[in-house]
Amino acid sequence: MKTRGTTKVYGVIGCPVEHSLSPMMHNLYSERTQVDMTYVPFRVEEGCVGDAVRGAYALNIGGLNVTVPHKQAVMEYLAEIDEDARAIGAVNTLVRTESGYRGYNTDAEGLWRAMQGAGMQIREQVCILIGAGGAAKAAAYVLAREGARKVYVLNRSVEKAQQLAEEINRHMQQELLTALPLHAWDQIGETGCLAVQTTSVGMFPNMDAAPIEDAAFYQKLSHAFDVVYTPMETQFMKRARAAGAVVCNGLDMLLYQGIVAYELWNPEVVISPSLIAEARELLKRCLGGKAG
Ligand code: ATR
Repeated sequence: MKTRGTTKVYGVIGCPVEHSLSPMMHNLYSERTQVDMTYVPFRVEEGCVGDAVRGAYALNIGGLNVTVPHKQAVMEYLAEIDEDARAIGAVNTLVRTESGYRGYNTDAEGLWRAMQGAGMQIREQVCILIGAGGAAKAAAYVLAREGARKVYVLNRSVEKAQQLAEEINRHMQQELLTALPLHAWDQIGETGCLAVQTTSVGMFPNMDAAPIEDAAFYQKLSHAFDVVYTPMETQFMKRARAAGAVVCNGLDMLLYQGIVAYELWNPEVVISPSLIAEARELLKRCLGGKAG
Protein backbone atom coordinates (compact mmCIF):
# COMPACT_ATOMS: atom_id res chain seq x y z
CA MET A 1 0.00 0.00 0.00
CA LYS A 2 1.42 3.41 -0.96
CA THR A 3 1.91 6.21 1.57
CA ARG A 4 -0.74 8.88 0.97
CA GLY A 5 -2.04 11.99 2.67
CA THR A 6 -4.33 9.87 4.84
CA THR A 7 -1.71 7.28 5.87
CA LYS A 8 -1.33 6.85 9.65
CA VAL A 9 2.28 6.58 10.86
CA TYR A 10 3.47 4.04 13.46
CA GLY A 11 6.99 3.04 14.39
CA VAL A 12 9.54 1.66 16.80
CA ILE A 13 11.88 3.74 18.97
CA GLY A 14 15.16 2.22 20.18
CA CYS A 15 18.91 2.43 19.96
CA PRO A 16 20.08 0.54 18.03
CA VAL A 17 16.94 0.05 15.98
CA GLU A 18 18.43 -0.90 12.62
CA HIS A 19 18.16 -4.66 13.27
CA SER A 20 14.48 -4.47 14.30
CA LEU A 21 12.18 -6.94 12.55
CA SER A 22 9.07 -4.98 13.60
CA PRO A 23 8.85 -2.76 10.48
CA MET A 24 8.80 -5.84 8.30
CA MET A 25 6.10 -7.53 10.40
CA HIS A 26 3.79 -4.53 10.79
CA ASN A 27 4.07 -3.49 7.16
CA LEU A 28 3.14 -7.05 6.18
CA TYR A 29 0.07 -6.96 8.47
CA SER A 30 -1.11 -3.56 7.21
CA GLU A 31 -0.65 -4.65 3.60
CA ARG A 32 -2.58 -7.89 4.09
CA THR A 33 -5.33 -6.43 6.28
CA GLN A 34 -5.76 -3.34 4.08
CA VAL A 35 -5.05 -0.80 6.81
CA ASP A 36 -3.83 2.61 5.60
CA MET A 37 -0.76 2.80 7.83
CA THR A 38 3.01 2.67 7.57
CA TYR A 39 5.53 1.59 10.21
CA VAL A 40 9.04 3.03 10.42
CA PRO A 41 12.13 2.66 12.64
CA PHE A 42 13.16 5.72 14.70
CA ARG A 43 16.62 5.76 16.21
CA VAL A 44 16.23 7.53 19.56
CA GLU A 45 19.37 8.01 21.67
CA GLU A 46 19.37 7.35 25.39
CA GLY A 47 18.15 10.47 27.22
CA CYS A 48 15.98 11.62 24.30
CA VAL A 49 12.94 9.42 24.91
CA GLY A 50 10.84 12.21 26.47
CA ASP A 51 11.41 14.47 23.46
CA ALA A 52 10.66 11.53 21.15
CA VAL A 53 7.32 10.73 22.83
CA ARG A 54 6.21 14.37 22.89
CA GLY A 55 7.33 14.81 19.28
CA ALA A 56 5.54 11.66 18.18
CA TYR A 57 2.32 12.85 19.78
CA ALA A 58 2.65 16.27 18.13
CA LEU A 59 3.22 14.54 14.79
CA ASN A 60 -0.03 12.57 15.25
CA ILE A 61 1.80 9.25 15.29
CA GLY A 62 -0.79 6.54 16.03
CA GLY A 63 1.38 4.27 18.13
CA LEU A 64 4.92 3.15 18.83
CA ASN A 65 6.83 0.09 19.87
CA VAL A 66 9.57 0.73 22.38
CA THR A 67 12.74 -1.31 22.54
CA VAL A 68 16.14 -1.30 24.25
CA PRO A 69 17.13 0.89 26.09
CA HIS A 70 13.85 2.79 26.57
CA LYS A 71 11.35 0.24 27.93
CA GLN A 72 11.52 1.59 31.49
CA ALA A 73 12.48 5.23 30.83
CA VAL A 74 9.49 5.77 28.54
CA MET A 75 7.04 5.14 31.39
CA GLU A 76 7.28 8.62 32.89
CA TYR A 77 6.17 10.26 29.62
CA LEU A 78 2.88 8.40 29.26
CA ALA A 79 -0.67 9.52 30.05
CA GLU A 80 -1.67 6.04 31.28
CA ILE A 81 -0.05 2.66 31.92
CA ASP A 82 -1.84 -0.67 31.61
CA GLU A 83 -1.95 -2.78 34.78
CA ASP A 84 0.16 -5.66 33.37
CA ALA A 85 2.84 -3.25 32.13
CA ARG A 86 2.96 -1.49 35.49
CA ALA A 87 3.38 -4.78 37.34
CA ILE A 88 6.16 -5.84 34.93
CA GLY A 89 7.78 -2.42 35.17
CA ALA A 90 8.35 -2.07 31.43
CA VAL A 91 6.41 -0.80 28.42
CA ASN A 92 6.99 -1.89 24.82
CA THR A 93 3.88 -0.56 23.06
CA LEU A 94 2.27 2.90 23.05
CA VAL A 95 -1.30 3.47 21.93
CA ARG A 96 -2.47 7.00 21.19
CA THR A 97 -5.32 8.38 23.32
CA GLU A 98 -6.87 11.84 23.57
CA SER A 99 -4.58 12.82 26.43
CA GLY A 100 -1.27 11.24 25.38
CA TYR A 101 -0.05 7.67 24.93
CA ARG A 102 -1.17 4.63 26.94
CA GLY A 103 1.61 2.12 27.60
CA TYR A 104 1.31 -1.66 27.35
CA ASN A 105 3.68 -4.61 27.63
CA THR A 106 2.99 -7.10 24.86
CA ASP A 107 6.07 -9.26 25.63
CA ALA A 108 4.15 -10.95 28.43
CA GLU A 109 1.08 -11.61 26.29
CA GLY A 110 3.37 -12.72 23.44
CA LEU A 111 5.02 -15.28 25.70
CA TRP A 112 1.63 -16.49 26.92
CA ARG A 113 0.29 -17.00 23.39
CA ALA A 114 3.51 -18.71 22.28
CA MET A 115 3.34 -21.09 25.24
CA GLN A 116 -0.30 -21.87 24.52
CA GLY A 117 0.61 -22.58 20.90
CA ALA A 118 3.29 -25.02 22.06
CA GLY A 119 0.84 -26.78 24.40
CA MET A 120 2.58 -25.58 27.56
CA GLN A 121 0.28 -25.35 30.56
CA ILE A 122 1.15 -23.01 33.45
CA ARG A 123 -1.75 -23.61 35.84
CA GLU A 124 -0.67 -25.70 38.86
CA GLN A 125 2.78 -26.26 37.33
CA VAL A 126 6.06 -26.06 39.22
CA CYS A 127 8.06 -23.59 37.10
CA ILE A 128 11.75 -22.76 36.85
CA LEU A 129 12.61 -19.32 35.54
CA ILE A 130 16.24 -18.88 34.45
CA GLY A 131 17.40 -15.25 34.49
CA ALA A 132 16.22 -12.11 36.25
CA GLY A 133 16.50 -9.36 33.60
CA GLY A 134 13.81 -7.60 31.58
CA ALA A 135 12.58 -10.68 29.75
CA ALA A 136 12.47 -12.64 33.01
CA LYS A 137 10.22 -10.04 34.59
CA ALA A 138 7.62 -10.38 31.85
CA ALA A 139 7.87 -14.19 32.10
CA ALA A 140 7.60 -14.17 35.92
CA TYR A 141 4.49 -12.05 35.66
CA VAL A 142 2.85 -14.43 33.18
CA LEU A 143 3.70 -17.49 35.29
CA ALA A 144 2.24 -15.83 38.39
CA ARG A 145 -0.85 -14.48 36.63
CA GLU A 146 -1.65 -17.80 34.98
CA GLY A 147 -1.63 -19.76 38.22
CA ALA A 148 1.75 -21.50 38.53
CA ARG A 149 1.91 -23.55 41.73
CA LYS A 150 5.46 -22.43 42.50
CA VAL A 151 8.21 -20.57 40.63
CA TYR A 152 11.91 -20.99 41.28
CA VAL A 153 13.93 -18.04 39.95
CA LEU A 154 17.51 -19.07 39.15
CA ASN A 155 20.00 -16.32 38.37
CA ARG A 156 23.79 -15.90 38.27
CA SER A 157 23.53 -12.93 40.64
CA VAL A 158 21.08 -14.09 43.26
CA GLU A 159 20.34 -10.53 44.46
CA LYS A 160 18.58 -9.77 41.17
CA ALA A 161 16.56 -12.98 41.47
CA GLN A 162 15.58 -12.01 45.01
CA GLN A 163 14.50 -8.56 43.90
CA LEU A 164 12.38 -9.96 41.08
CA ALA A 165 10.81 -12.56 43.39
CA GLU A 166 9.98 -9.92 46.01
CA GLU A 167 8.38 -7.60 43.45
CA ILE A 168 6.13 -10.26 41.96
CA ASN A 169 5.29 -11.80 45.36
CA ARG A 170 4.27 -8.35 46.61
CA HIS A 171 2.11 -7.81 43.54
CA MET A 172 0.47 -11.25 43.84
CA GLN A 173 0.25 -11.01 47.64
CA GLN A 174 1.61 -14.53 48.06
CA GLU A 175 4.99 -16.24 48.37
CA LEU A 176 4.93 -17.80 44.92
CA LEU A 177 8.48 -17.11 43.74
CA THR A 178 11.64 -18.42 45.41
CA ALA A 179 15.07 -17.06 44.41
CA LEU A 180 18.13 -19.29 44.07
CA PRO A 181 21.61 -18.78 42.64
CA LEU A 182 21.97 -20.44 39.25
CA HIS A 183 24.32 -23.16 40.52
CA ALA A 184 21.86 -24.16 43.27
CA TRP A 185 19.41 -25.77 40.82
CA ASP A 186 19.90 -29.13 42.58
CA GLN A 187 17.95 -27.73 45.55
CA ILE A 188 14.84 -28.07 43.41
CA GLY A 189 13.26 -31.34 44.48
CA GLU A 190 10.38 -31.54 42.01
CA THR A 191 10.31 -33.18 38.58
CA GLY A 192 7.92 -32.54 35.67
CA CYS A 193 8.73 -28.82 35.79
CA LEU A 194 8.11 -26.12 33.18
CA ALA A 195 11.32 -24.13 32.58
CA VAL A 196 11.52 -20.70 30.94
CA GLN A 197 15.03 -19.65 29.87
CA THR A 198 15.37 -15.85 29.56
CA THR A 199 19.13 -15.17 29.56
CA SER A 200 21.20 -14.47 26.47
CA VAL A 201 23.36 -17.55 27.13
CA GLY A 202 23.36 -19.75 24.01
CA MET A 203 22.37 -16.93 21.69
CA PHE A 204 24.17 -16.42 18.37
CA PRO A 205 27.19 -16.34 18.08
CA ASN A 206 27.81 -18.22 21.38
CA MET A 207 25.70 -21.17 20.35
CA ASP A 208 27.62 -23.85 22.28
CA ALA A 209 26.69 -22.43 25.68
CA ALA A 210 23.82 -23.39 28.01
CA PRO A 211 22.98 -21.57 31.27
CA ILE A 212 23.12 -24.93 33.10
CA GLU A 213 25.39 -27.65 31.71
CA ASP A 214 24.54 -30.58 33.98
CA ALA A 215 22.28 -33.21 32.34
CA ALA A 216 20.69 -33.94 35.74
CA PHE A 217 19.03 -30.52 35.70
CA TYR A 218 17.18 -31.33 32.48
CA GLN A 219 15.78 -34.54 33.99
CA LYS A 220 13.57 -32.29 36.11
CA LEU A 221 11.81 -30.78 33.09
CA SER A 222 8.69 -31.81 31.20
CA HIS A 223 8.52 -28.56 29.19
CA ALA A 224 11.23 -26.04 28.29
CA PHE A 225 10.70 -22.64 26.67
CA ASP A 226 13.71 -20.59 25.54
CA VAL A 227 13.06 -16.91 24.69
CA VAL A 228 16.10 -17.07 22.38
CA TYR A 229 15.37 -17.68 18.67
CA THR A 230 18.88 -17.45 17.19
CA PRO A 231 19.64 -20.32 16.85
CA MET A 232 16.20 -21.90 16.42
CA GLU A 233 17.29 -24.74 18.69
CA THR A 234 19.57 -23.61 21.51
CA GLN A 235 21.81 -25.87 23.60
CA PHE A 236 19.29 -25.43 26.40
CA MET A 237 16.54 -26.78 24.15
CA LYS A 238 18.71 -29.62 22.82
CA ARG A 239 19.51 -30.78 26.35
CA ALA A 240 15.90 -30.51 27.49
CA ARG A 241 14.69 -32.41 24.42
CA ALA A 242 17.29 -35.14 24.98
CA ALA A 243 15.87 -35.51 28.51
CA GLY A 244 12.38 -36.02 27.06
CA ALA A 245 10.92 -32.53 27.50
CA VAL A 246 8.66 -30.69 25.04
CA VAL A 247 10.64 -27.64 23.84
CA CYS A 248 9.86 -24.30 22.17
CA ASN A 249 12.03 -21.37 21.08
CA GLY A 250 11.27 -17.64 21.32
CA LEU A 251 10.32 -17.05 17.69
CA ASP A 252 6.59 -17.18 18.39
CA MET A 253 7.01 -14.88 21.39
CA LEU A 254 8.58 -12.33 19.03
CA LEU A 255 5.82 -12.95 16.52
CA TYR A 256 2.93 -12.67 18.99
CA GLN A 257 4.23 -9.60 20.85
CA GLY A 258 3.99 -7.86 17.47
CA ILE A 259 0.54 -9.24 16.74
CA VAL A 260 -0.77 -8.11 20.14
CA ALA A 261 0.60 -4.60 19.44
CA TYR A 262 -1.03 -4.57 15.98
CA GLU A 263 -4.34 -5.63 17.54
CA LEU A 264 -4.09 -2.84 20.12
CA TRP A 265 -3.65 -0.31 17.31
CA ASN A 266 -6.32 -1.85 15.08
CA PRO A 267 -8.91 -3.42 17.39
CA GLU A 268 -11.32 -4.05 14.51
CA VAL A 269 -8.79 -6.10 12.53
CA VAL A 270 -8.24 -9.85 12.88
CA ILE A 271 -4.89 -11.35 11.87
CA SER A 272 -5.78 -14.72 10.37
CA PRO A 273 -3.88 -17.97 11.10
CA SER A 274 -2.59 -17.97 7.51
CA LEU A 275 -1.20 -14.44 7.92
CA ILE A 276 0.43 -15.50 11.20
CA ALA A 277 2.04 -18.43 9.35
CA GLU A 278 3.22 -16.09 6.58
CA ALA A 279 4.78 -13.70 9.12
CA ARG A 280 6.49 -16.61 10.89
CA GLU A 281 8.07 -17.76 7.61
CA LEU A 282 9.17 -14.21 6.81
CA LEU A 283 10.79 -13.90 10.23
CA LYS A 284 12.63 -17.20 9.76
CA ARG A 285 13.89 -16.07 6.37
CA CYS A 286 15.09 -12.73 7.75
CA LEU A 287 16.91 -14.41 10.62
CA GLY A 288 18.60 -16.57 7.99
CA GLY A 289 22.12 -17.63 8.96
CA LYS A 290 21.74 -16.65 12.62
CA ALA A 291 18.81 -19.02 13.01
CA GLY A 292 21.06 -22.04 12.58
P1 ATR B 1 17.02 -8.92 29.08
O1 ATR B 1 16.35 -7.58 29.21
O2 ATR B 1 17.17 -9.39 27.66
O3 ATR B 1 16.42 -9.95 29.97
P2 ATR B 1 19.16 -8.23 30.88
O4 ATR B 1 18.20 -7.40 31.64
O5 ATR B 1 20.49 -7.66 30.58
O6 ATR B 1 18.54 -8.67 29.49
O7 ATR B 1 19.32 -9.63 31.64
C1 ATR B 1 20.21 -10.58 31.21
C2 ATR B 1 20.04 -11.86 32.04
O8 ATR B 1 20.94 -12.83 31.51
C3 ATR B 1 20.39 -11.71 33.51
O9 ATR B 1 19.58 -12.59 34.26
C4 ATR B 1 21.85 -12.14 33.53
O10 ATR B 1 22.31 -12.60 34.78
P3 ATR B 1 22.92 -11.55 35.86
O11 ATR B 1 21.73 -10.87 36.46
O12 ATR B 1 23.63 -12.40 36.84
O13 ATR B 1 23.81 -10.64 35.09
C5 ATR B 1 21.81 -13.29 32.56
N1 ATR B 1 23.13 -13.60 31.99
C6 ATR B 1 23.80 -12.92 31.04
N2 ATR B 1 24.97 -13.52 30.75
C7 ATR B 1 25.04 -14.64 31.55
C8 ATR B 1 25.98 -15.71 31.71
N3 ATR B 1 27.11 -15.76 30.99
N4 ATR B 1 25.70 -16.68 32.61
C9 ATR B 1 24.56 -16.65 33.32
N5 ATR B 1 23.62 -15.68 33.21
C10 ATR B 1 23.84 -14.69 32.34
